[in-house]
Amino acid sequence: MTHRRSFLESISASALAASWFRGAALARPLPRPGDDAYWDKVRDRFMLARDKVFFNNGTVGAMPRVVFEKTVEHLRKMAVDVADWDYRGENWIAGYGDPASLRGKLAGLLHADEKEIALTENVTCSNSYVADGIEIEKGAEIVMSDQEHPGGEGPWLTAAKRHGGAVTRVKLPKPAHSADELATLVAGAFTTRTRVLFLSHVITGSGAIVPVKQICAEARSRGIFTVIDGAQAFAHIPVDVKDIGCDAYVGCLHKWMLAPAGTGFLFLRQDKAPAVWTTLPSSNWDNHADEGYRLSQRGTGSQSLLVGAEAAVDFHLELGHERVLARVKYLGDRLRAGLREMPKVKIYSPEDNAICAGITVYAVDGVSGDKLQDEMWNRARLRPRSSGPGVRHSTHIFNSPAEIDKALEVVHALARG
Ligand SMILES: Cc1ncc(COP(=O)(O)O)c(C=O)c1O
Repeated sequence: MTHRRSFLESISASALAASWFRGAALARPLPRPGDDAYWDKVRDRFMLARDKVFFNNGTVGAMPRVVFEKTVEHLRKMAVDVADWDYRGENWIAGYGDPASLRGKLAGLLHADEKEIALTENVTCSNSYVADGIEIEKGAEIVMSDQEHPGGEGPWLTAAKRHGGAVTRVKLPKPAHSADELATLVAGAFTTRTRVLFLSHVITGSGAIVPVKQICAEARSRGIFTVIDGAQAFAHIPVDVKDIGCDAYVGCLHKWMLAPAGTGFLFLRQDKAPAVWTTLPSSNWDNHADEGYRLSQRGTGSQSLLVGAEAAVDFHLELGHERVLARVKYLGDRLRAGLREMPKVKIYSPEDNAICAGITVYAVDGVSGDKLQDEMWNRARLRPRSSGPGVRHSTHIFNSPAEIDKALEVVHALARG
């Protein structure tokens, strides 16, 4: 199989040192992302069944064993020993106390202050807290792309309708050609009426990494409030909210961080947070000394999920943030290199590998997205997700090069007809 030999050769050290990654602060020397023996050992720490391959981290991640065990252990404690809880010290439920330890770890990863971080249920909640919490005057314009997720754009569409605002959707190319192209298109849509920019950091339906720093700088110079959707970015590519210069950054832990479903976060810049009203008010509804705590309070929630989420962050930190991101991109680059060899395959992810990492969206001529999803499953028990005319195929540290090659073989067979 010629396509196979040449794409393997094309995975070079230079490809791994793609420009987006060069900018990441490397805290310690990295083992090569292609060190499969090392990653095989990491794979052993997942419970994922060995006779199936999971390629849809873009919807929800696969929990490492330690995350599952800590979550279940806490649930068991709730069922068996809840009478031991004397309502002092450690919290047995979430939603009232300050989840300081997890907020602190997230702040470290995002380069934020702990008080700028709130814990939420998911990205839709985080985004709603911002869209419902800020004042939107009649006639105000909200700029977003034409490729936002419903949980991203929904809160802004609602806010615009409720307050008499207007939404401008910028048409972005798919595939995107370059970061500059994306920046020029989005910034070109700003007008004197624009009050809010809402934009994905990584686009869900293509995996394109959007140059949010460049765009936020332009927005800031015009006094536009900037909200970046990091659902597909956090724990996938480097995220430094101070460097990006956004006012709000919404994200979750249940995708790329491999935490249990139902764990989200919200970053709100210290100087902008006081202007954001509390959507789910409780005793801290007016606590402007700790804005992140104010917005983390949301009534009774599952502490077991937060325990699991913290275990996921600890697992990630133990492996090394940069090391995980590099492996995810290495596998994504391998998949795209293989797909690019196949004439009947159309790739909707960016042509420039510097602006994509672990998400690849592609289609095969004459095969619908649903059919491609099903063929992957029926022929080889591979689970990417149907997306538009093709599939969205995510790669993560529990995937191996051999699994990617298996997917390429299925695509190759379908593309041959
Ligand atoms: C870019 C983007 N924004 C928002 C969401 C919604 O996330 P959640 O389900 O955590 O609310 C998703 C989910 O896939 C997404 O990809």
